[in-house]
Amino acid sequence: VSPRPTLAPGPCGQGTVLIGSRLPAGIATPATVVFADRLERNLAAMADFAGEAGLALRPHTKTHKCVQIARRQLALGARGLCFATVGEAEALTGGGLPEPADVFIAYPVWAEGDVIDRLAKLAGHAQVTVGADSPEAVGRLAPLAGQVRVMVELDCGLRRTGVAPENAVDVAQAVRQAGLDLAGVFTFPGHSYAPGAGPGAAGDEARTLTKGAEILASAGFDGLERSGGSTPSAKLAHPDALTELRPGVYVFNDAMQVELGVATLDEVALMVAATVVSRPAPGRLVLNAGSKVLGPDRPPWTTGQGRLADWPQARITGLWEHHAVVTLEDDPGPALGEVVAVVPNHACTAVNLVPELLVLDGDQIADHWPVAARAANR
Ligand SMILES: Cc1ncc(COP(=O)(O)O)c(C=O)c1O
Repeated sequence: VSPRPTLAPGPCGQGTVLIGSRLPAGIATPATVVFADRLERNLAAMADFAGEAGLALRPHTKTHKCVQIARRQLALGARGLCFATVGEAEALTGGGLPEPADVFIAYPVWAEGDVIDRLAKLAGHAQVTVGADSPEAVGRLAPLAGQVRVMVELDCGLRRTGVAPENAVDVAQAVRQAGLDLAGVFTFPGHSYAPGAGPGAAGDEARTLTKGAEILASAGFDGLERSGGSTPSAKLAHPDALTELRPGVYVFNDAMQVELGVATLDEVALMVAATVVSRPAPGRLVLNAGSKVLGPDRPPWTTGQGRLADWPQARITGLWEHHAVVTLEDDPGPALGEVVAVVPNHACTAVNLVPELLVLDGDQIADHWPVAARAANR
């Protein structure tokens, strides 16, 4: 095995990372690992930021899906937790969170099948709030009057879900008619996911939430929460316009956040330990971690499908189910058989692919955290 390279600052300006030396000797690969010290720093930094900005923090748990991390977020002062599905909320609140949990399903919930029964059951041990962006969806929630609250989703530029602020009143009136409580408005500034787009998205978020809340206030809906946040825009949020932030990825960071300049490589807390199984040609090596462990995400603005922590200039340029092809020029790179730390492009999809995360304290495996809400897609 070749000696570790001495790293010059990488293209993103990071200094030496040398994560490989912290991987436990003999670790079976591929393995999805969490660096406990980095996780703690990321959790504390966002909690401190929100506290100093006077914003409530409601982390999106879809990134980690782990009870252990949710508990720590709450211990650091998070107001409550955010989920994408009823199933995610069931999995984490049923796993030992302090009760009553404060649950927000930030998704336009369409109440079909057993959804009403499951939400009612959840509301038995949690304060439950759900998203809605149509009077029709709200109407279907009517059996939950007095049990769940509703947040109206606004679109601030992602062009995914959410109504324009001008149309929020229709949804809010449906909430009132159904006998449900209106908790506020929320938006997801996901168009922050492009180089240089963070400040613009944060501005769109602020304007949209302010306008939505003003329009609703003039229609008699006062005292509303204004919830926003994505990881790339979280620290650019306008504290006067928002009351609550919902970032998710910040707990781990990933190659997309590095590429966007939101995090440095040494702020990435989740990686995949993988073995170099082939070096078929100069400048090309192949790892035993493919899309089935790293996740397939690759937005067009990224320079690869993932990175190597200790070789910042390397990129994953080809991804199959069980192979990652790494391109690394002008550097011998890791040797055949060497175990390297891979930074996935998108932490959330990588986590959802494995049953547990290996928690590393120094170079020891300190714990195994089940991905409790893994595949809880409904
Ligand atoms: C509605 C909603 N809120 C919050 C988040 C968290 O943002 P991020 O993934 O950038 O941390 C997401 C992410 O997809 C989301 O869809």
